[in-house]
Amino acid sequence: MKPILIVYGTIEGHTRKVSNCIAKVLKEEGFRVEVIDSDKAESVEFDRYSAIVAGAPIHVSRFPKKFTELIARNAHSLASRPTAFFSVCLGILQKDEPETQQAERDFVSNFFAVTGWQPEKWTIFSGALMYSKYGWLKKRVMRMIARKAGQKTDIDHDYDFTDWSEVRKFAYDFGQTVQRSLP
Ligand SMILES: Cc1cc2nc3c(=O)[nH]c(=O)nc-3n(C[C@H](O)[C@H](O)[C@H](O)COP(=O)(O)O)c2cc1C
Repeated sequence: MKPILIVYGTIEGHTRKVSNCIAKVLKEEGFRVEVIDSDKAESVEFDRYSAIVAGAPIHVSRFPKKFTELIARNAHSLASRPTAFFSVCLGILQKDEPETQQAERDFVSNFFAVTGWQPEKWTIFSGALMYSKYGWLKKRVMRMIARKAGQKTDIDHDYDFTDWSEVRKFAYDFGQTVQRSLP
């Protein structure tokens, strides 16, 4: 069986961590898996894979440009095999702000419209506040946003809001979908 591709975009590295967690679960289920950063995936042939998971973070209301372009270029290959998408963001944490949560879902719908790819399965994971990776200004802007949102404001620490059991379940369920698609 051909391997499963996990292709991700990232700015601060948290989406790579999520991708590696998905890869670990799929490997435990007996699949061969390749994990590739979309910035290095120019020449990757999507047709070489039995199934594909793609994921990216939202930064300033959009997914990374290179990631979006890569997916759009490969929409045809994505349409002909089992696929899943995950978004990583912080807006989804605002459980008492339905508009913000809806906006995060709208970014995903817009991404599907722009790329022409509609995966069978998609979800949104809470990301991380990585103060240690931000420059001076970004650190302060993010602290201001976090304060408004009632989130962690101690810039001497990073904060991981991802529910890792949710990530593992997403990966396991996708593995089941791939199993069912096998001849
Ligand atoms: C400059 C900046 C802008 C961000 N903009 C958004 C946003 O518009 N909406 C959102 O929900 N999260 C936003 N986030 C949160 C990120 O999606 C979150 O930190 C995620 O874990 C980043 O993933 P990465 O480490 O793979 O880049 C932003 C984070 C940063 C640093």
